[in-house]
Formats: sequence, C-alpha cells, structure tokens
Amino acid sequence: MRAYFADAPDDISLNDIDVDKIPSHVSFIMDGNGRWAQQRGLDRTLGHKAGVDSLRECVTTSVRLGVDVLSAYAFSTENWRRPQHEVNMLMHLFATTLMKELPLFHQEKVRLKFLGDLDALPTETRDVFEFGLSQTKDYDRMTFALAVNYGSRAEIARAARLIAEDVAAGKLRPEDVDVDAVSNRLYTAGLPDPDLLVRTSGELRLSNYLLWQLAYTEFYVTDLFWPDFDRWEYLRAIHAFQGRGRRFGGVENK
Ligand code: FPP
Repeated sequence: MRAYFADAPDDISLNDIDVDKIPSHVSFIMDGNGRWAQQRGLDRTLGHKAGVDSLRECVTTSVRLGVDVLSAYAFSTENWRRPQHEVNMLMHLFATTLMKELPLFHQEKVRLKFLGDLDALPTETRDVFEFGLSQTKDYDRMTFALAVNYGSRAEIARAARLIAEDVAAGKLRPEDVDVDAVSNRLYTAGLPDPDLLVRTSGELRLSNYLLWQLAYTEFYVTDLFWPDFDRWEYLRAIHAFQGRGRRFGGVENK
C-alpha cells in the first residue's frame, strides 16, 4: 500500500488520510473525456479511451484503501443521443475493456455489478457483461458497479412499477410500501448508499444519476477532466470528505 502511494505530490499524501474512516461507497460521475481530447486536438473517442485508464486507477486505489463499493456513471439513458459513431465506439469499448480487465477483477477479488437497463445494449456488450457478472459473482473484497444505460428517474419509475405489480399480485400490502420497499427494487438493491460522490470537469449537477441514493451523500467536485483524475485527486476527495461533519439530518457525529 505504501509503495502504491509513494512519490506523492506536495499537497497530499496517504498520511493525510484517516485509514479508519474510509468511505464505504464512493461514486464517480466521469465527466470531461470529450473536452480532454478536444483540448489536445484529438477525436473525442480517444478521450474515452484515456478515461478507461483513470477508471482502472480508481479501482486499484479503492481496493488499496479498503473501499467496499465503487460505482461509476459510464453511459446514461440520454447518451444514446450522441453521434452514432461515438455510441458504437463506447459500446465496443465497454465490451473490450471488460474482457481485458477481467484478470484485474480476479486478482483483486472484485465483484462486478451493472446499474441500468442492459436489454437495450448491443448483443456483444450484453454478452460480455453477463460473462463478467458470472465470473466475479463470488468475490466479496469490493463491488464495482458500472452504470450503463442508466437513468435515475427511469430506475425509480421501474421500482414503482415493480411495487405496483407486487401489490396487484397480492404479495405486498399498500401500507407496507416504505423506503426499504423502494430501495430494494432499485438497481442498487443490496448496496449501501454512496458516502462520497466525485464529479470531474467542474459541473455542478447530478445529470439524472442516483437521485434517490444520494440523499445524504457528500459531494466533491474537481475541475480536472476525467482522464486527468488519478490516485492523488482521489486522496484529495477523501481528505475533503473526512473533514466534513455528516449529520444525516440530526446532530453532528464526527
Ligand atoms: C463523459 O465525458 C464520459 C462518458 C459519457 C463516458 C464515460 C466512459 C468512460 C470513462 C470509459 C469507461 C469505460 C469502461 C469500460 C467502463 P464526456 O464525453 O461527456 O465529456 P465532455 O463533457 O467533455 O463532452
């Protein structure tokens, strides 16, 4: 662990982190791949490829720090509106990257999970996702949840539909519909809510991401574009998180 965090920059190091207060679930809105590429005169798709390296570093860093769940927003229900060649490239990138990174998941005992409606994905991508799920289902060191074809409003509407079906079938009474009944029907069922949400490229919005689950989450926004996000910025985010007093609507409990 020390070696992984050697060569720290001047402003942050592992010593600044309280290793007993690592957030259990860290979530990322990976923004700015396109702008990162355009700034360098490159095609936007090369920004996404560079973004994979940042995500891999986040997985490794999360495992080293003892994070239980890492989630990341890879493709929204709105992203289908992007140019067709970019959508195709992303779908292919998800499949090829997952196959390429499977040894890392095996090595680190990371369980894969997907958030979103996978039925609408190209067969190649869906098949690889299902293969990845089956290969990693027994691992419990960390869960890596990737949001693909994900939209929070659609997710909540789906949960409402599932509840309505259960009520109609006589499996659930209307008076038993509570917060847990909804949570248990979201794609994130069984996962703790995020403690920390990181968004890159300076944007201050949620973009239809985990609206229900982020109720008490601490936010960290950095101006860095996603391909420039590295283990040091990750430590800065955790350091900022550890300096916050979380109250969950009650009194401060530090
Ligand atoms: C946001 O940047 C990024 C995306 C919509 C795609 C995220 C995908 C990756 C980081 C690749 C991950 C790969 C795997 C296998 C999970 P943007 O295109 O919105 O950038 P912009 O805001 O500058 O246009």
